[in-house]
Amino acid sequence: MKKVLMIFTLFFLCLAGVKAQVFNSGTAWLDTNGQPINAHGGGILYQKGTYYWYGEFKGSGKDGNKAKHGVSCYSSKDLKNWKNEGLVLKVVNDTSSKLQIGCVIERPKVIYNHSTRKYAMWFHHELKDQAYKAALTGLAIADKPTGPFTYVKSLRPNNNYWPVNYPDSLKKPLANLDTPGESYKYRKSNGDLVRRDFEGGQMARDMTLYVDDDRTAYHIAASEENGTLHISKLSPDYQSFTGEYYRVRPGESNEAPAIVKHQNKYYLITSGTTGWDPNPARAFVADKITGPYKSLGNPAVGTNEEKATTFQAQGTYILPVQGKRETYVFMADRWKPKNPIDGTYVWLPLTFENSKPVIKMFE
Ligand code: DGJ
Repeated sequence: MKKVLMIFTLFFLCLAGVKAQVFNSGTAWLDTNGQPINAHGGGILYQKGTYYWYGEFKGSGKDGNKAKHGVSCYSSKDLKNWKNEGLVLKVVNDTSSKLQIGCVIERPKVIYNHSTRKYAMWFHHELKDQAYKAALTGLAIADKPTGPFTYVKSLRPNNNYWPVNYPDSLKKPLANLDTPGESYKYRKSNGDLVRRDFEGGQMARDMTLYVDDDRTAYHIAASEENGTLHISKLSPDYQSFTGEYYRVRPGESNEAPAIVKHQNKYYLITSGTTGWDPNPARAFVADKITGPYKSLGNPAVGTNEEKATTFQAQGTYILPVQGKRETYVFMADRWKPKNPIDGTYVWLPLTFENSKPVIKMFE
């Protein structure tokens, strides 16, 4: 009996430890040098006992969301104390480069490829002075998790391929979108934008990456003018697209995708599309990573305000805590568009109740 009690006590102490270390409710978070962590829209790579947190390095003022520096990286062994590893991908002072200072780099995610032994970083990339028009996904690679990452390319993926779950009747490129009588909203769901972008490649904005148990990697991005998510299979070296992709929840305007596999099911958590303003999160479940995804409603549990605003934040990643079975952290950003460098991080426990993901403010 004593032994059982001891095990229980240890278990709860461990849980308390995880709480104290991992979670954050949007309060200032300082690195090990005492400086505010600057890694927004981030994602985590875990390797050999170390977590690496990659994110957007924001600036101040109205242009603070533009990439003046690049992508930052912080490392940690305990998810609480983060060491600044510096800028691992730097924008360049070269007006002929797509990666020139002043472009937009958002939501960078890094995965490790066991065959090439390279680290692949994909990120949402917009060109300088073109707002969000380009809708590209960018790739940079490195030999070490702390970089330096070398910029490789930016592209619109899956050009000249139709989505796998797309009806044959629609498989014709569409040059002119001005079909009378069809609302833009309808065009966003009926697949017209896939047809429009068939040759040039599909739009790729808010994104995340996921490596499945068989090491196949997937790129998940808001496409079709943010109307529909695309889940795309990457090549075995993680450095290109295979042309195999799937439309997810057509026309429902999901962005900020984050995904986790739990008890052999895939749970996708997204937001709606309201710019930098928060909105209610949405949860979905599927038996296969490629879908189909069934809606599970809003995963946030709390006050009406917390549910309506996802704790005043927008998701960016779901982190499985290593060595702690079925312990997940929902990572989100509390954006501050007027002074983006002031944006903070909301990291909350993600649990499952009746096979539905639940995100609550920690105690
Ligand atoms: C919401 C997205 O989730 C962010 O990453 C960013 O692209 C903003 N929109 C821009 O308004």
